[in-house]
Amino acid sequence: MPSRLRVAIAGAGQMGRAHAAAFRACGARVVAVADPDAGRAAALAAECGATACASVAEALAGRPDALSICLPHHLHFEAAALGAEHGAALLIEKPHCITLAESRALRAIVARHGVPAMAGFTHRFLATSRRLHAALRAGRLGSVPLVTDRLYAQALGPGTPAWYGDPARAGGGIALIGMIHSLDRLRWLLGREIVSVQALVPPVRDGAVEDTALALVEFAGGTRAALVAHRSPAPGHARAHECELLGERMHARCVLGSFDHQELHLTGAGPEEHLTVTDDTPFVAEVLEFTSALVAGRPPAPDLLEAELALGAVLALYESARIGQPVRLAEFLAPANAG
Ligand SMILES: NC(=O)c1ccc[n+]([C@@H]2O[C@H](COP(=O)([O-])OP(=O)(O)OC[C@H]3O[C@@H](n4cnc5c(N)ncnc54)[C@H](O)[C@@H]3O)[C@@H](O)[C@H]2O)c1
Repeated sequence: MPSRLRVAIAGAGQMGRAHAAAFRACGARVVAVADPDAGRAAALAAECGATACASVAEALAGRPDALSICLPHHLHFEAAALGAEHGAALLIEKPHCITLAESRALRAIVARHGVPAMAGFTHRFLATSRRLHAALRAGRLGSVPLVTDRLYAQALGPGTPAWYGDPARAGGGIALIGMIHSLDRLRWLLGREIVSVQALVPPVRDGAVEDTALALVEFAGGTRAALVAHRSPAPGHARAHECELLGERMHARCVLGSFDHQELHLTGAGPEEHLTVTDDTPFVAEVLEFTSALVAGRPPAPDLLEAELALGAVLALYESARIGQPVRLAEFLAPANAG
């Protein structure tokens, strides 16, 4: 790995900008920005001293060390496969793919080309998530029989990219773009796999994606989680995200509404802890995990297998809503169900 990592950014939208800034904060050089929207590509490239490109293939022609994929979901697989073929390490925004078949094919391509690959589950890198992870690993909460998690976002509209509302390009609605963070974060926090999911996700109708997802999730070891994700049509509705882990020794309450204002309250047996964070930089922490893993020659985390487990949980929620029954994840993820 060269002393200064050369990175290409695929997609100059809101996440492309966040990733470019985070890579630069980590000392990497952004050398190319790909976006068919020439104005967007040029503006971000100019900020970074990079070359603006009309396509991901053009950006990869310069042989960057890494490719950061910040595209509409339906384009993730193709861009990642192309990046791996060019020998680029991959940082792929969530969901890394939109079907299990794509995910499996991508893992095979990545393994064949021997490139490191990481999925962008930013919520793991929030300062409060890391503190809570440490508290759980230290056993401070005791066993955790119950979790609640609710995420409210603004309704789709002029402030959101048009593809978010298009099932063909987004692959799903609030469950796939929002609740997937909570499913991944809880797997990681609890250190337990998801056993089954039961969902009420309104079926996709008239070409629209779901704006509400309700899920009951059972983890190995017996933890049950109730998750809600909802895009509120109320005008001006602010983003809100709260999560409670109700442990036998302590309760943890996390307020993650905006990355700029997070709270973690640990109450119960043992010393209480109240943490408020107003200056967090989770994208920098995420990119630092990626770049430092590349420098150290270790795999970055979370990898694409973990990303597939989170994707699988969301797709199992859709299946559960369709059949009106709980879905056991191990069976759902069995190779025969790869489509
Ligand atoms: N980690 C997080 O907290 C977080 C938050 C928001 C979005 N995301 C994820 O980031 C990804 C991108 O979302 P966004 O909100 O930045 O979308 P966006 O619409 O703002 O940006 C996507 C960009 O990709 C460009 N694009 C379209 N086709 C392209 C192509 N063929 N080649 C190159 N560029 C192309 C678009 O012109 C656009 O500029 C999604 O996976 C989304 O789920 C993650």
